[in-house]
Amino acid sequence: MCLNVSYLSTFENSDCIVAFISDKKEIVGKTAVDLDSENNSFISRALKHSEINGKFGESIKIVSPTDDIKCVIALCIGDRSLSQKDIEDLGGKIFTCVPSYCRSLFVCCDGISSEECDDIPARLCYGAVLKSWQFDKYKTTKKECKLQDVKAISTNIDTSYKIWKLLKNLISAVFMTRELVSEPANTLTPASFADRIMNELLPLGVKVEVFDETEIRHLGMGALLGVSQGSDNPPKFVVMNWNGGSEDEAPIAFVGKGVTFDSGGLDIKTYPHMEGMKGDMAGAAAVVGLMKVVALNECKKNIVCVAGLVENMPSGKAQKSGDIVTSMSGQTIEVLNTDAEGRLTLADALWYTQDKFKPQYMVDLATLTGAILYCLGDEYAGLFSNSDKLSKMLEIAGEKSGEKLWRLPMNDYYDSTIESSIADLKNITSPGVKAGSITAAHFLKKFVNNIEWAHLDIAGVESISRNLDTVNSGATGFGVRLLYQFLESFDCNDCSDKMKNNAEKLGQSAAKSAQTNSNVSSKKETIAAVQQKQNEKQGANGATQANANANASK
Ligand code: BES
Ligand code: ZN
Ligand code: ZN
Repeated sequence: MCLNVSYLSTFENSDCIVAFISDKKEIVGKTAVDLDSENNSFISRALKHSEINGKFGESIKIVSPTDDIKCVIALCIGDRSLSQKDIEDLGGKIFTCVPSYCRSLFVCCDGISSEECDDIPARLCYGAVLKSWQFDKYKTTKKECKLQDVKAISTNIDTSYKIWKLLKNLISAVFMTRELVSEPANTLTPASFADRIMNELLPLGVKVEVFDETEIRHLGMGALLGVSQGSDNPPKFVVMNWNGGSEDEAPIAFVGKGVTFDSGGLDIKTYPHMEGMKGDMAGAAAVVGLMKVVALNECKKNIVCVAGLVENMPSGKAQKSGDIVTSMSGQTIEVLNTDAEGRLTLADALWYTQDKFKPQYMVDLATLTGAILYCLGDEYAGLFSNSDKLSKMLEIAGEKSGEKLWRLPMNDYYDSTIESSIADLKNITSPGVKAGSITAAHFLKKFVNNIEWAHLDIAGVESISRNLDTVNSGATGFGVRLLYQFLESFDCNDCSDKMKNNAEKLGQSAAKSAQTNSNVSSKKETIAAVQQKQNEKQGANGATQANANANASK
């Protein structure tokens, strides 16, 4: 993080000053009003002759009348009541507006109000810092970020610092996820990804287990192994555990697609579709980011995150069209397209997670289908779920965090489109069925028992080619802010009531709509056996055990 952030109770001269302006083009807040009146109304006069209309987000740069200040930015807040996301976006806009010759910034944010926002100065700084991120690890000449110090006026400095501490941790988690997604596949393999997860999370008290290829085989994950068998880089299966809640409380589980490179396999992708496939692990990166902020902010819930890490490559050993694999659930799958590999890895990851942890809720994130881009572009991620309640909670978190979701339908018809004539399932539908994102979600549903589950297809949003207020083009870190907001909603009675009402309005109980897979054989014994081995291994590994204990004692 390149910016130092502080909160002050009084004005301080800085290279750049931000003053907020109402829809009527009036200066908002005593600090900026005083600055204006003490300096011959230079802001009011500049506004009078400017072309801005007072709409949210409009801004002008004003040359300062004093030597102590280099530039003043007047930024309009418009006439709407400001949401938490609006405040964050204003922060991002500020970062974008600050001239490159300024080292320090002072934000006169007194006088702004928002019913939804916990602390305006901290949220503004959060938006500004989120926008400052760039991936320059591989640039031999780094672009210097001149701006070093950001100060904001606060009427309650203690609260601002308290909220900032939490938001700063969220930022570092988002940045880590963006970095992982940006990392090329020659440096981020399943093994190096697993190492990075250990290095990031073990010191924070998260219990991390990494299963290697032999252990994955013992678990019976034939679908995941089929994908990885063409690659020289062996798979890893990573299970992360945070025990912040009471012992008897079922965890909330998050599962991420972790294909570190998706060439398509023998159904190899053609130009330009392979470009960007280093980001096919964005779901896994998001759950790791979520676990980081959960641990840093000492979340009072039990959280499990799971990532199946594989590389999808063509080779003499690669799986072939028509191969039949047996998933951990016992269901057999006819692999008719090796490029529909994400659902194969998730089949085993979802089954493992729900069977082992019996979570209250299970949410998966996956760059699963190109079809979701045709449907929603990069504005919304696709949401699929067997639970109206969980969907509503996620949609509300999406609106609040700005990582928005749009729910798409699921119904029995689509199940029939993935029936194979010679195995239990096939991994693609027959030509002509279309609805590629929905049929993929139905494939995943076959690996979820009676559990409230949601699948987020993030293929369109993990990286973007346009600039957003708080995100530059490139990796977005999608999912970390959304799911952290989702977890926070459990602590907010008001939100849960709203969610309950919404879910009731929809008229369907979640339990009723949760689908059951009663004919699937359980592999609990196998899990227990491998678990035993893992525990023994960890017994020898003092660091892991010590961290697990540290976590348990929190
Ligand atoms: N990783 C891709 C999906 C994807 C596409 C992610 C574009 C990000 C941007 C996935 O594994 C895939 O290849 N899906 C196929 C499925 C098809 C073969 C049924 C697709 O969407 O074309
Ligand atoms: Zn693919
Ligand atoms: Zn893929």
